[in-house]
Amino acid sequence: MSNIGQSIPRADGPIKVTGAARYAGDQNQPGQLHAAFVSATIPAGRVTTIGARAALAMPGVVRVLSAADMPRTHADLDKITVPPLATRFVPMQSDEVVYEGQAVAIVLAESLEAAEAGAKAVGVSYERSSFVVPEQAPALPGDPKRGFYSAFNQAEFKKGDAAAAIGAAPIKAGAEYTQPSRHANPMEPSAILAIWNGDQLTVYDAAQHVPGVQSVLAATFGIPAAQVRVLSPYTGGGFGIKGFVWPHELLAALAAKVVRRPVKLVLSRQNLYSMVGPQPQTTQGLHLGADANGKLLGISHVVSNVTAVTDDYVEFATVASRSFYASDNITTSSRVRRGNMALPSFMRSPWDGPGSWALGSAMDELARALNIDPLDLRLINYAEADPQSGKPWSSKKLREAYDEGDKRFGWRTRPKGGALDGHWRIGYGMADASQGQTRYHSTARVRLKADGTAQLESSFCDIGTGPATVLPQIAAEILGLDPKQVVAVAGDSTLPYSGPAFGSATTLSTGAAVQQASQRVRDKLARLAGWSPDEIKMQDGRIMRDNDSRTIKDVLGEAGVSELASDGALDLPGGAFADHGSADYPARSFGVVFIEVGVDQDLGLVRLRRATAIYSAGRIINERTARSQMIGGIVWGWGMATMEASHFEPSLGRWLAKDLANVPLPVNADTPPEIDVGFVDEFDANIGPLGARGIGEMAATGVAAAVANAVYDAIGVRIGDLPITPEKIVQA
Ligand code: MOS
Repeated sequence: MSNIGQSIPRADGPIKVTGAARYAGDQNQPGQLHAAFVSATIPAGRVTTIGARAALAMPGVVRVLSAADMPRTHADLDKITVPPLATRFVPMQSDEVVYEGQAVAIVLAESLEAAEAGAKAVGVSYERSSFVVPEQAPALPGDPKRGFYSAFNQAEFKKGDAAAAIGAAPIKAGAEYTQPSRHANPMEPSAILAIWNGDQLTVYDAAQHVPGVQSVLAATFGIPAAQVRVLSPYTGGGFGIKGFVWPHELLAALAAKVVRRPVKLVLSRQNLYSMVGPQPQTTQGLHLGADANGKLLGISHVVSNVTAVTDDYVEFATVASRSFYASDNITTSSRVRRGNMALPSFMRSPWDGPGSWALGSAMDELARALNIDPLDLRLINYAEADPQSGKPWSSKKLREAYDEGDKRFGWRTRPKGGALDGHWRIGYGMADASQGQTRYHSTARVRLKADGTAQLESSFCDIGTGPATVLPQIAAEILGLDPKQVVAVAGDSTLPYSGPAFGSATTLSTGAAVQQASQRVRDKLARLAGWSPDEIKMQDGRIMRDNDSRTIKDVLGEAGVSELASDGALDLPGGAFADHGSADYPARSFGVVFIEVGVDQDLGLVRLRRATAIYSAGRIINERTARSQMIGGIVWGWGMATMEASHFEPSLGRWLAKDLANVPLPVNADTPPEIDVGFVDEFDANIGPLGARGIGEMAATGVAAAVANAVYDAIGVRIGDLPITPEKIVQA
């Protein structure tokens, strides 16, 4: 029986639910000091004095470090790009304050309690400057020298003449759609333990990409990467905030260097609002023009997002309008609004999450203006090829997903025109889900042992998405083993290089490397047995040819070999770190979300009653972990649609709430018993040898639009400002 496709449970499940898995914050080192940040209470200005005497007098407090004590980062750091670096601004390198919550001092103590108490006792005086509220800042073109850009995401895109086409179109739709900033808040906060041993730095870190942390820390000190070891065997969720390398990681290592003792830093929930980045508030002007049959004549999409004063994070929500639907005339434009906030960054799911919200809402308005079913409007404008490049997709089976979703949800047979269930008004909405595909250069090593087990080694991070389960399945399939007999060793920079756990690409990238390494091991075993690799089969721990069959154990034992090991890789053209599919075949994953909501107009309540989502994502390696990813993403999307918002308080220049007590998030009670998720049968040979594309982040796309469309269906009111909270329903 084939291992690939099997719904096996998570290999790391037992160790995580029993608390045996040791995360970065669980690590300890003899002689370690605990660090706590003193955070700026002003949004802009400079630190004039740091009063450390009271803190230093407290029991257990060892040092108070300020900008005056911190070594300057090495010039090599200036050469590091974003990513892997998250932000070019490193606090405590000067007395400058550019956002509220910024680190201005670090208290080091013998216990966490002493460090936190010491941090409260540090007195900081400031010279205040005027500050800019990001939401109120002018929308300006971003500066590629100040942030993350790629050839794929030019700030301005123009194909044909969208303004003229929309102007002349008989049917028009669209509006301004807005979405607040949101913070990722994984269960495990960011944390790091930094240990110096001479010139050798070892860190345990909560990371999504250990080689990225390694290269940034090496540059921070101007030392070779080989002198930095990064360990991140378990990561308790990341959602993007552990993808790039943030200043707290540099500051912990710098502090450890100063005091010559290991330093352990676990960010507080409040720190997560200033030390790592949120998804930025976006304002999206999206306008569509169509002919009377629903054919899209033009798409215009102008996005602006808030960012820091120091760096330009651009939320390329415009990608949706360049990718989802066929049109001869597409114009997109990205702008940033710079203000005194911590730098925003990638958060599940960047670009397509916000973009699909605006585009999915506008398409629903267009369908209503045309009096066409929104599913038919999608079919009329089905993008057979990538609208941006004009090239064929690596693979796309969205039509099959539409059919399957329609059947399972009963879309076309839904009650139309304001169904009621008691006092609940029932509404139905749908939208496209899609996420651009990234591939990352990745390598892996597979060792087949004489006892018939195997080990796979790669520096990937399993942030809860399942690669520690799925990658062994790939090796097990090729080597004819039970997946339980294949152990993954990961999250260590001394292991073969893996691409990052962001951009929903570990399975296809590291998986391709595991596949190649496994095939090479298999070939070695065949030759060791004296057989041709082309004529063997491997199954149940045995190697077979025609009617001959031997155990792996016997073949290795008789040859006196303790293991067979091979390396494999996914190499990208030009030796690239990442790309978005091959030059001939741009790639993305596709899907459709159908939502049924109930709305209580008196109380303003919106309830998720039913959801069906079907995806076209290439080959699915483990249906169970894949479904789990998508269910989680849909719930995340429900949070985006109806709950989540981080409000920037304009008079104080800070986030209004900085903890989970004041930020509503979906819980089990908010979700229906079953969220129906499925995948179409597909093998994408153009994206890589495994046939799989990315899935995880796509699940959080499309949901907010489908919910807003369902709310419109229920009460006839279009809400274009997320989240759809009770007061907006009541006021509607
Ligand atoms: Mo995802 S925001 O690319 O970790």
